[in-house]
This record gives sequence, C-alpha cells and structure tokens, in this order.
Amino acid sequence: MPADGVYACRFLQGGQVRNAAVSVGTNPTFSGRERRVEAFVLDVHEDFYGQRVALDFVARLRGQLKFDSSDALVVQMHKDVEQARRLLA
Ligand SMILES: Cc1cc2nc3c(=O)[nH]c(=O)nc-3n(C[C@H](O)[C@H](O)[C@H](O)COP(=O)(O)O)c2cc1C
Repeated sequence: MPADGVYACRFLQGGQVRNAAVSVGTNPTFSGRERRVEAFVLDVHEDFYGQRVALDFVARLRGQLKFDSSDALVVQMHKDVEQARRLLA
C-alpha cells in the first residue's frame, strides 16, 4: 500500500488504460477513520463501482491535507487533476 497522499496513476479496467488522480488516505477534511483508495478517472463519465480494476502508481503529487472547507478541497482537487493530466500526457 503506498503512503497516504495524492498520486497520478494509470487506471486499468476491462482491457482499457485510462488516466486518474488517486487519493490514498482517511479523508482528514471530513475526519474519516477508514483508509481508502479513491480514483478520479479523467475524462470519463462511467460508473466503475463493483468492478475489478488495477492502478499503476506513476507519480506522487502531494500528501493528504486537512482543508478548512470542502470548497477549498475541491479547488485543490482541480489542481491535482490538471497536474496528473500533464504528468500522464
Ligand atoms: C485527487 C483527490 C485528492 C484528494 N485529496 C484529499 C485531501 O487532501 N484531503 C482530504 O481530506 N480528502 C482528499 N480527497 C478525498 C475526498 O475527501 C473525497 O473524495 C470526498 O470526501 C468524497 O468522498 P465520498 O465519495 O465518500 O463522498 C481527495 C480525493 C481525490 C480524488
């Protein structure tokens, strides 16, 4: 398991390779306890819940942060997505 943080990854599913920004951690902004791996798959509006997927961790972008508001987290997530997009291009 990679250390808590945000990563640029390849997301492999059903023979397809897509790009993703991935969060590993407990979602400290929402005082979460459970450690999760969440993949935000770029440029796809498809539901992958319940499917077997694989992640290839390409680059670490930053550590997990506790934000003062969910709006501040969303702003940072947009930056993460753009950074992941550039790195994986
Ligand atoms: C690219 C990315 C970066 C994230 N970074 C953080 C972070 O720094 N801190 C945090 O508390 N949660 C982070 N999250 C997780 C969000 O808190 C989580 O996706 C959100 O709470 C939605 O959770 P839900 O699907 O359970 O509602 C990140 C998620 C993604 C996809």
